[in-house]
Amino acid sequence: MLSKEQIQSIRQDFPYLSKEWDRDIVYLDSAATTQKPRQVLEAVEGYYKFENANPHRGAHYLGQKATEVYEDGRQVVADFIGAKANEVVFTNNTTQSINTLAYVLGLNTLKEGDEIVITILEHHSNLIPWQFVAEKTKAKLKYIYIDKETKALKEEDLENQITEKTKILAMTQSSNTTGTLVDVKKMIKKAREKSKDIKTIIDGAQYIPHHKLNVKDLDCDFYAFSGHKMLAPMGIGVLYGKEEALNNLPPFFYGGEMIEYVYEDRATFLKAPMRFEAGTQNVGGVKGLTEAIKYLDSIGMEEIAAYEESLTQYAYDKVKDLDFLDLYTTREDKKGSVITFNLKEIHPHDVASILDTYGLAIRSGHHCTQPLHRYLGLNASCRASFAFYNTQEEVDRFIAHLDDVRRMMGLGSK
Ligand code: ALA
Repeated sequence: MLSKEQIQSIRQDFPYLSKEWDRDIVYLDSAATTQKPRQVLEAVEGYYKFENANPHRGAHYLGQKATEVYEDGRQVVADFIGAKANEVVFTNNTTQSINTLAYVLGLNTLKEGDEIVITILEHHSNLIPWQFVAEKTKAKLKYIYIDKETKALKEEDLENQITEKTKILAMTQSSNTTGTLVDVKKMIKKAREKSKDIKTIIDGAQYIPHHKLNVKDLDCDFYAFSGHKMLAPMGIGVLYGKEEALNNLPPFFYGGEMIEYVYEDRATFLKAPMRFEAGTQNVGGVKGLTEAIKYLDSIGMEEIAAYEESLTQYAYDKVKDLDFLDLYTTREDKKGSVITFNLKEIHPHDVASILDTYGLAIRSGHHCTQPLHRYLGLNASCRASFAFYNTQEEVDRFIAHLDDVRRMMGLGSK
């Protein structure tokens, strides 16, 4: 387990916590985007200063340097998730990764009568693209729901919703709202028993920043995640796909550097991953993601997971008996690093705004999970989310200021 001293030393890497800035912020919104350590920021700056050129194009020193940065980064990502380099496609973010699959897999392969199964936990980015595919192809969109008490997926839905007609199973590995961790390995195995040509897609945006991942162990066909939720800059993301699964798909975007030969009336395309990387790519973003992964690896994903689990449990134990709070996260089984709640009838935006006056950053709203909120009978909620650079002292401040909000809004006593 990471010691207090180790956490204090880690915190010195994050400029937003440094004395050079005159704000005192408790950042509890890492599920929206993480803060970035100086190692990542310096790597990105270093790339643009001394290694910048267009990759895969320039037969000159800087062109080769940029290509090296880009392709070395691909190998670092591949090693981090247990994949091969040619199974790692760079995208902008999880949303682009999933939309790519919606277009090139969903629209191209589904037909009337086929089924797409998702869960009620999905972020809009793994939900609306499948609504779109269902509407265009006349495939049926079906949901696996959660138990409203435990927030775990309903066993009977796991059994019944996936049938031999299900062609796509797309699901989150960790809910950004309830914190539910989904045993996707078990679900993938079960899904394949029911439908032999099913394609499985995992939205790992909220999982990969917090846990060790091995895509081969999960045996998913595709896995999507964003760099900005794991210390890297915004605008860089990943679509992992099994080599054969990727190469069976047509391109999504067409343009430079994804082709073999182009004639006036037709073109032939490279294999994955280049087939899916038309146009000049975000090499600076790849450099940042590479450094972010090295940073996470230097701490150790198991260490990070254990520390965050104990910090979230610490926070949960402090809030669970507050009678002015309605909680939408449970922790009977292991959950992600989020606590979602409301202060009774107080609007979440009011709660977040008052907390902000004390320097506390939480998220309020529907967290891009409107169907999940509606299913739970909510319009909106407050969410505190934790990362390994947060501390118990910060959690204590959060709890103390929640009580200030309670008093200010005239809610009953603790
Ligand atoms: N998906 C991000 C969140 O959960 C933005 O806050």
